[in-house]
Amino acid sequence: MTHQECINCGRIYAIDEIVYFCKECGDLLEVKYSHSELEKAAKNNRWQTFPLSVWKYRDFMPISDPSRIVSLNEGGTGLHLCKNLGERLGLKQLYVKNEGENPTGSFKDRGMTVGVTKALELGVKAVICASTGNTSASLAAYAAKAGLQCAVLIPSGKIAYGKLSQAMIYGAKVLQVRGNFDQALDIVLRLSEKHGGIYLLNSINPFRIEGQKSLGYEICNQLGQEAPDRIIVPVGNAGNISAIWKGFKEFHAIRLVKDLPMMTGIQAAGSAPIVQAFKTRSDTIIPVDEPETIATAIRIGAPVSWKKALTAIRESHGIAEKVTDAEILEAQKTLARTEGLFVEPASASSIAGLIKLIDNEAISKDECVVCITTGHGLKDPDTAVKVSEKPIEVDAEIEAIEQVLGLKTPLTVTVSRR
Ligand code: F0G
Repeated sequence: MTHQECINCGRIYAIDEIVYFCKECGDLLEVKYSHSELEKAAKNNRWQTFPLSVWKYRDFMPISDPSRIVSLNEGGTGLHLCKNLGERLGLKQLYVKNEGENPTGSFKDRGMTVGVTKALELGVKAVICASTGNTSASLAAYAAKAGLQCAVLIPSGKIAYGKLSQAMIYGAKVLQVRGNFDQALDIVLRLSEKHGGIYLLNSINPFRIEGQKSLGYEICNQLGQEAPDRIIVPVGNAGNISAIWKGFKEFHAIRLVKDLPMMTGIQAAGSAPIVQAFKTRSDTIIPVDEPETIATAIRIGAPVSWKKALTAIRESHGIAEKVTDAEILEAQKTLARTEGLFVEPASASSIAGLIKLIDNEAISKDECVVCITTGHGLKDPDTAVKVSEKPIEVDAEIEAIEQVLGLKTPLTVTVSRR
């Protein structure tokens, strides 16, 4: 039977119990299916003909009443073959899975469609999250669609403008906390424990992870039921890398895919506790007290799902690496200018990580690599404007514009000089 299970002590909780941490040992929970349930879902191959979307995989989701699904048409994002950038890096095959193509512009929508649907099933009236921006935008949208009250806590002055505007226009109660994300998360955790009626939709919520695992399923489907050699993912609170790995492992368990990818997590240098733990072979993380990076989406010092993420990286023989802000911004520009894909800085960390790992010869050039770009570039227009060449101001006259574009023929120039 589908249930929730502690990742540490294995204690089992009913699928409809509202519980965020194990009551026995305090660790995280995950949704578990029996092997026969997964096989049954796979065999009912009606789903194979559905168009790509999160709900293509409805039979693999812990939702009992499909009539109440809260959807804005999430998933089904492009898996872009990036020949220009791949060739430049000398890589055999490079794909970018562009999650900015989701309804609110980030991968969070995959988790929210399932999480908010579950909230309705559980009969809650209010939802809450702490966020570096994208989670708040996504939760606000799905709560609006579901008719639920919504409050979001964001670190004051540290979220990109696009994301703030989304949370506001969708009508959430937006609380700017004088503190960082880790502090805001701690508060919402305590609030939701204290007030049973407020449902927490951060990625510790196992139903969010169920939606996000569709990212793994989709990559499989888009590659013709094959796994790439490697998946590179930006890591913040560490839910997404864990979710993608869960998706692959489930498909692998029921032979819907033969191989498994090496999960490779990238953090920003100023907030990289998981990379630190990976490199020092530690079984625990040392939280970063004052995380800092231009990639505000992953400005997180105490990632709640660190244990799941380290397991995913280690089990899959992957790597964790950190990248500087300068490397992130350079990668953002390079991706935009070689492939026409505009992603926000946190998303570009997967590309920056790829470049770094190729340079360090930690990634072989024979690999087929999928980089996840997690959020749309328009989420953070200020950074893009800051790092790009300034627009050139000109008079509204054709000659002035010809001059700037270098359109005057050399002959004319020569003649006029004489
Ligand atoms: N990329 C973007 C654009 C994000 O918004 C986030 C997380 C991540 C990567 C990291 O994903 O947390 O699952 O490891 N943003 C969260 C938020 C924390 O509040 O929007 P993760």
